Amino acid sequence: MKRIQVINGPNLNLLGRREPDVYGTRSFEDYFEELKSRFPGVELDYFQSNHEGALIDKLHEVGFSCAGIVLNAGAYTHSSPALADALKAITAPVIEVHISNVFKREDFRHRSLLAPVCRGSIVGLGLDVYRLGVDAILNI
Ligand code: DQA
Repeated sequence: MKRIQVINGPNLNLLGRREPDVYGTRSFEDYFEELKSRFPGVELDYFQSNHEGALIDKLHEVGFSCAGIVLNAGAYTHSSPALADALKAITAPVIEVHISNVFKREDFRHRSLLAPVCRGSIVGLGLDVYRLGVDAILNI
């Protein structure tokens, strides 16, 4: 069975409660159950951390063995060369996702340090970006 890792970065543990006008009212745990049920033939694992180093450790742990990674690095997207280096180091394809349309928002969100080292990016379609990310990995 293919193993795909979903990784969420800082503040995404607050989905459902955090800025609901931007990120919606659904918790990720609730959404993740639906996501798993859509891909019965895939082993989907979920990891979330608010800590840059923990995200890097997880990428190192799974990044040489899983079929792919769907990564929402939150604000570290715009600020972390360390995460970009980790993505460069691993061999699994990574799809960058963002729930909100970062290009419609503040200027600092327009730049992603991760996009150049990801296989592709999916932004602005709400929680559905994770499903599209899993589909993208399955189509690689
Ligand atoms: C986000 C967009 C980032 O700019 C922000 O810092 C987040 C969430 C998104 O999913 O839309 O934490 O990655």
